[in-house]
Amino acid sequence: MKSKILALLRESEGYLSGQDLCERFGVTRAAIWKAIRQLQKEGYEIEAVRNRGYRLVVLPDVLNRDELESRLRTDWAGKNIEYHASLGSTNVRAKAMAEEGAPEGTLVVADEQTAGRGRRGRSWSSPAGKNLYFSLLLRPDFAPDKAPMLTLVMALAVHRAIEEVGGCRPDIKWPNDIVLNGKKVTGILTEMSLQSDYIDNVVIGVGVNVKAQEFSPEIADKAVSLETELKKSISRALLLEKIMEYFEKDYALFLERMDLSLLMEHYNACLVNRNREVEVLEPAGAYKGIAEGINPKGELMVRLPDGEVKEIYAGEVSVRGVFGYV
Ligand code: BTN
Repeated sequence: MKSKILALLRESEGYLSGQDLCERFGVTRAAIWKAIRQLQKEGYEIEAVRNRGYRLVVLPDVLNRDELESRLRTDWAGKNIEYHASLGSTNVRAKAMAEEGAPEGTLVVADEQTAGRGRRGRSWSSPAGKNLYFSLLLRPDFAPDKAPMLTLVMALAVHRAIEEVGGCRPDIKWPNDIVLNGKKVTGILTEMSLQSDYIDNVVIGVGVNVKAQEFSPEIADKAVSLETELKKSISRALLLEKIMEYFEKDYALFLERMDLSLLMEHYNACLVNRNREVEVLEPAGAYKGIAEGINPKGELMVRLPDGEVKEIYAGEVSVRGVFGYV
């Protein structure tokens, strides 16, 4: 009931009458008042005026289960939410929940991570009260070689959400970083668990730098947060609401063809390096070429100086602009 009252308060223009709330939920005025008191304790500034009712005065950047449940209108993505004020890593927790039989769409969210994991064995800086850290559990019914494409589907969903909530024009750095004004605001770490040659589950972990002002020395020159860059406040819960909404839609388009053909036009339009010279760093050595966009499998097509087009698979290489990160 608390999360439903919260949703009504957020959506209501004026005051919400206590009597209406009682009738809607079939409970006493005292029960409504108790829920309001709990919301106030969680940080919501709710005005209570005799004979008029309740009104949400300001929308604070609260990130917790009630707030998320009050927002998510998806069919399955984020339907089962586990929220932690502090957690080692949302990916590790989501994988453990998968082992215990958690359903597809389970969403693990943390306000702080004490052992946030990045790609290539790096750590992911995850201070409390600043950013968005979450992992979404999927149980796909397709071959393991298709799983890396899910990271690109998520990148597109995060891109769309940042664009809408931030009112800005971010880019995607293939395969899955979101960049704003040339600096990284989002990282995605997808982990797959196999059962012989079938996928048991896939966990897609996302970290969005929303408010952080400091970053560790190794990433300080290439990371930035949305609020510092956009100079306005961003609600983490709203951002997550939008990401889930877009992911659910884009994932359905992915499943329709089992590839990215219905999404690649949009993805390529957001690609920061498109038609620019990039350096491809492969274990066997580095080379340069012009990035032409992704193909339906999510591979980056790079035209070499001799005209040959190489299709680069995300797992093996990293790509950067010839002058640095992008
Ligand atoms: C990267 O290195 O770019 C990927 C970073 C992914 C970080 C997110 S934060 C939520 C989830 N839990 C983790 O431990 N990592 C991912």
